[in-house]
Amino acid sequence: MNSVIIGLGGALPKKCILNSELPESLDTSDEWIMQRTGIRQRYVAEEDETTSSLAVEASRKAMSMANVSPDDIDLIVVATASGDYTFPSTATVVQRELVVKNAAAFDISAVCSGFIYALDVADSRLKLGKSKCALVIGAETFSRLLDWNDRSTCVLFGDGAGAVVLRGENSDKGILSSLIYSDGTNVEHLKTSGGVSTTKTIGYVLMNGKEVFRAAIEKFNESLQALLSLNNMTIEDIDLLVPHQANVRIIEKLIASSGIEREKVLITIDKHANTSAASIPLAMSELGTGIFTKKNVVLLSMGAGFTWGATLVRF
Ligand code: ACO
Repeated sequence: MNSVIIGLGGALPKKCILNSELPESLDTSDEWIMQRTGIRQRYVAEEDETTSSLAVEASRKAMSMANVSPDDIDLIVVATASGDYTFPSTATVVQRELVVKNAAAFDISAVCSGFIYALDVADSRLKLGKSKCALVIGAETFSRLLDWNDRSTCVLFGDGAGAVVLRGENSDKGILSSLIYSDGTNVEHLKTSGGVSTTKTIGYVLMNGKEVFRAAIEKFNESLQALLSLNNMTIEDIDLLVPHQANVRIIEKLIASSGIEREKVLITIDKHANTSAASIPLAMSELGTGIFTKKNVVLLSMGAGFTWGATLVRF
């Protein structure tokens, strides 16, 4: 039994902020942001937009492409670090909005690696026959976790959501490999300044940018090589590589060290900035049904914790 992706969709908030539209008080520039990160703009949720509303919009598109109804879905997993509430899970809010009556629904917290982790959990349940059709979503309103006076973090992130529908099928397509890792000794390098059990606030993003940058390159390379070796594949066998979109310079270094052709690497950071758990499915959704023309698709992630991982999907 394989977990086959049969639909995907993305959603962005209405409001788009160009680098040049950031407040003057931030003391930054379009030139600095473009050169150091590759980010041109980001979408930022307005009052009436939430992580769940973006997740629901992306899910509706994915379900429509997959031609499945709410009654077909028996598992909803939302990867997010910016859920609607401390509890219940955003997945249960999505379940209510989509009127999915017979499903287990829960959130996963692995920050930027959340979608890869969520795929891994859904894939395991589908392979075991414990679920039949899963909605796996990465959704964030990270803008609400930012200190908008800190130019070293606030220019980097954006809001959005991406969703896929996975169905358990006897097929040679689907998720062929899924690797997830973490190393908690790096917790301090990227975290929020508070939380429910520490400061009783949500906190805002604190980041040791240089260390995250270094580790992202290392972990991308490690997990890519592990995935290739596990599947007896070479870099030439990959038709599409979708890395987490944190900084175009991290992606450029991955291209250089792995030797993958640039045209095979999906880059959306210029348009979306870093949307954390949403970054990979949102980027994939940009291709629409075009993704079904790619055979071997590799997803790579790295995020706070640190957490990281890689997925091989055959379409
Ligand atoms: N505009 C203008 N100047 C800035 C800005 C800004 N937005 N931000 C920082 N600077 C300044 C700094 O103050 C510093 O000035 P100084 O030399 O006078 O002290 C100078 O630019 C250089 O700063 P560095 O931090 O050395 O810049 P660097 O080239 O390392 O780029 C960056 C910083 C973009 C944050 C980079 O380190 C990076 O991308 N790191 C990884 C970030 C990342 O991937 N985060 C997400 C992880 S995934 C997750 O789980 C959320």
